[in-house]
Amino acid sequence: MIRIVLLGPPGSGKGTQASALEKRRGVPHIASGDLLRANVRDSTALGRKVKPYMDRGELVPDELILDMMADRLSQPDAQQGYVLDGFPRTVKQAEALEERLRALSQDLDAVVYLKVPEAEILRRLGGRRTCPHCNAVYHVDTMPPKREGICDKCGATLVQRDDEKPAVIRKRLEVYSAQTQPLLDYYQARGLLREIDGMIGVDNVIREIETIVAAAQAAV
Ligand code: AP5
Repeated sequence: MIRIVLLGPPGSGKGTQASALEKRRGVPHIASGDLLRANVRDSTALGRKVKPYMDRGELVPDELILDMMADRLSQPDAQQGYVLDGFPRTVKQAEALEERLRALSQDLDAVVYLKVPEAEILRRLGGRRTCPHCNAVYHVDTMPPKREGICDKCGATLVQRDDEKPAVIRKRLEVYSAQTQPLLDYYQARGLLREIDGMIGVDNVIREIETIVAAAQAAV
């Protein structure tokens, strides 16, 4: 069982690593962005409310996120652990998660920060392709699918996300610095923050995360 949060700027590899951990450890990869995009795609009441924020590269208001995540975290598959990707993203969200964990007498194993420089983020997001059906993530140069434009896992046609326009990427980076970076101090103060160089390759990053989780669990 593991319970971890992946933190990092847009394009740092949170989704890629969370999906690998889901496969290796059998705990769900819970991505707030994927949940929001599914709501937008299905045109739910939540989806209609959040779309304008996402299109502008701004954060969705905390209240909407907190309700959605409380619902997801209470599902049966999340009771034995999870990998959180994209949540929490503000101090208010981190406090809500902490309160929930306290009420359930649970702890996070670690908060893993993937550090990646801005130039690399722009390169990665420029070449990213995503499966709209199963959320698998590729890169046209460094992680291409076996058949161009087709998802290896489910055969759907890969797409570029709506928030991958250069102006929206710039906005998402600004929002990350202003609203999410403060979480590094928040989790550092709680002794949970572990930093990984996100430039060392996908397989090396996953090995480092596994080492961090093993050390955290051995220390309990
Ligand atoms: P969200 O979907 O969470 O996007 P994000 O955090 O901006 O992160 P990304 O999904 O863009 O990147 P990633 O770090 O997962 O990288 P990936 O693995 O894909 O959020 C989208 C929007 O939803 C927000 O703007 C906001 O509006 C809203 N939202 C979501 N959560 C919210 C919340 N909690 N509160 C409020 N609003 C919220 O990798 C990127 C690329 O790099 C891929 O092509 C991949 O193949 C490649 N790559 C990955 N790792 C490596 C590596 N080690 N080396 C080389 N290439 C790599």
